Amino acid sequence: MRTSAISCLFLLLAAGCCGPKNSEPAYLDPSRPLEERVEDALARMTMEEKVALTHAQSKFSSGGVPRLGIPELWHTDGPHGIRPEVLWDEWEQAGWTNDSCTAYPCLENLAATWDRDLSLLYGKSIGEEARYRKKNVLLGPGVNMGRTPLNGRTFEYMGEDPYLASKMVVPYVKGVQSNGVAACVKHFAVNNQEVRRTKTSSNVDDRTMYEIYLPAFKAAVQEGGAWAIMGSYNLWNNQFNCHNERLLKDILKGEWGFDGIVVSDWGGCRDDDEAAANGLDIEMGTWVDPETEVDGASNLYNLYHLANPYLERLRDGRASQEELDDKARRVLRTIFRTSMSAEPHYGSFASPEHFAAGRKIAANGIVLLKNDGALPLQVPEGGRILLVGENAYKMMTVGGGSSSLKTKHESIPLDAFREAFEGKAEVCWERGYVGDTTTDYNRVVTGQDLSESRSQEQLLADAIAAARQADRVIFIGGLNKSKNQDKEGCDRLDITLPYGQNEIIEALAAVVPDLIVVNISGSPVAMPWASKVNAIVQSWYGGSESGHALADVLTGAVNPSGKLPFTVPMALSDGPLKTERQYPGIKEEGKTWWQEYYDEGVFIGYRWYSTQGIPVQYPFGFGLSYTTFELSDAKLSATAVKSGKEVTASVTVKNTGSVAGAEVVQLYVHDAESSVERPVRELKGFQKVYLEPGESARVSLTVKPEDLSFFDADAHSWVLEPGDFDILIGTSSEALPFDLPLTVR
Ligand code: GLC
Repeated sequence: MRTSAISCLFLLLAAGCCGPKNSEPAYLDPSRPLEERVEDALARMTMEEKVALTHAQSKFSSGGVPRLGIPELWHTDGPHGIRPEVLWDEWEQAGWTNDSCTAYPCLENLAATWDRDLSLLYGKSIGEEARYRKKNVLLGPGVNMGRTPLNGRTFEYMGEDPYLASKMVVPYVKGVQSNGVAACVKHFAVNNQEVRRTKTSSNVDDRTMYEIYLPAFKAAVQEGGAWAIMGSYNLWNNQFNCHNERLLKDILKGEWGFDGIVVSDWGGCRDDDEAAANGLDIEMGTWVDPETEVDGASNLYNLYHLANPYLERLRDGRASQEELDDKARRVLRTIFRTSMSAEPHYGSFASPEHFAAGRKIAANGIVLLKNDGALPLQVPEGGRILLVGENAYKMMTVGGGSSSLKTKHESIPLDAFREAFEGKAEVCWERGYVGDTTTDYNRVVTGQDLSESRSQEQLLADAIAAARQADRVIFIGGLNKSKNQDKEGCDRLDITLPYGQNEIIEALAAVVPDLIVVNISGSPVAMPWASKVNAIVQSWYGGSESGHALADVLTGAVNPSGKLPFTVPMALSDGPLKTERQYPGIKEEGKTWWQEYYDEGVFIGYRWYSTQGIPVQYPFGFGLSYTTFELSDAKLSATAVKSGKEVTASVTVKNTGSVAGAEVVQLYVHDAESSVERPVRELKGFQKVYLEPGESARVSLTVKPEDLSFFDADAHSWVLEPGDFDILIGTSSEALPFDLPLTVR
């Protein structure tokens, strides 16, 4: 009896018609812990299925597991907005009619806000657009340091200081990932130029790496919880970064405990064996044209390093199953964090809220560099405003490389000023010069007509004549997204304003005593005419709302509060890169790749200029306001601390002017006596405070032991040497009125 009953029960159970519900596999159950889902899925996969996860299957997607219902990963540019859909295997846009996005300000513009809350708003908003467009991995933000102002991609990054970039990247990453979209922080690492970016070895010592070039990535991973990192095209100490063992296995995954995916830059994976063993998880964009290995138009995906060659290595034992499982786990983890995430996310796209966010961020990052009274604009009733310069008209969201976008609409300065002064003043425009007349990129077209028949002489004559008839004249020029300006794939040749703009500004200044100059760029330009004009504004590629943001600031609707995220030098030659071997690199006997030596070490940006005592045009951290602020009563919680203890610096900020505004309190440290050469100041704290007229606030900034330390490469650790330090507090790297002594015992 018993036997038959048991067998009967067994049959019933096997038929699944009673007993516990046939619970779905763990990997499909979003309520199960992430790692349980990963292990369950992994256990069900064949080797071939695992390998399919590790490389592209199209220009911007990498494999999933169709048999198990695990979706592929969709990657998308870029740091400033969601790239238009592309064809399966092309760079050009596919021509969809539902993918016109919100173009957000460039990341230098975001960095210039020095406002962590705006960075969170930025990340959340762009992440919503990625999610709505069903993208799982956002290929941004970029946080490469501004080692040289010539870098063509400066506009995509967050300045010349590791602390500023470290603090600004974290909220961006968190904001993006709050939508179930992975931020893919790039380009890891020491990819600080575009010249020969795929064949130059950045030769950098460990101290410089740990103090300058790694911190923003480390913060993104450890504080931001980044789910993805993009390996860069270049080499570090002669190993390609997309499979650099020291960088990816020892530092990123070892020391930092990174549990996400390393994605190669498109075409950055260069070697079968290293791709298998050195920490690369997904290979994208490899050029596999079998004949020529050059920029082919298509990709033959099975020929990828992590495709058939990898399978061969796995089968013959040259590649380890453990490494494959580690890659597969990381990709599965990313899929379960994004498209198969426990909480549903729907995102939103090109919404009024997103455009408003872009406008707010753009305006709050515009930097007022000089103002002898011409701003905010005062225009007599029925008066005439003249805008001179191509950048008052030219749309900037199209072009510049992989960050190029197709936006729903773009506000240009000319339109925004006409809107702002409608019924009050006439707004005219003179081109002044011809810069970049292209109006398309990857089949995205702006619709503008930038053709010009007048000669340069005529253009200048027309501008001068118009200036004589105007009540207010604003020059709006700068750079654009064309070759050798702010564009991926090439660097600038110098920091001089192109197209003869300096001469035009001088000529205008000769007839317009209160000339206002707006420089729209993503990187610093020399300003030899600074003493001859009344006001100077550093504006940016502000995205869809660029024009409105600029008009908001110049009219006073928004009180400027941006601070420079990089130094504006007097001349390029004042900078730290003096030799070919420092930049752009040299060819050396017996070495396959170009060699570039970071001989300047930690002394880049203001670290260089302030330590050398070299005067600059406008310093890092500098920016004016339409109101005035007063700092007082700065003090430390202690004047001496035991090593390892924190100390708090505090200062009172008062708005002593007549309009609301914001100031950025900055804290720099100086080690008065150290066994190594250290910069005379290093940013280690900042806080932006918004104050009504007459209002005060007490700002407190914590100085941690690591803020006072330097990286000892021999000991491979951070070292805090006892002794005297100066805690410097002020409102720019050159305006530090408070020098508070601190002794570390
Ligand atoms: C580009 C860029 C990278 C971009 C990728 C995909 O070459 O270096 O930033 O995300 O390829 O377009």
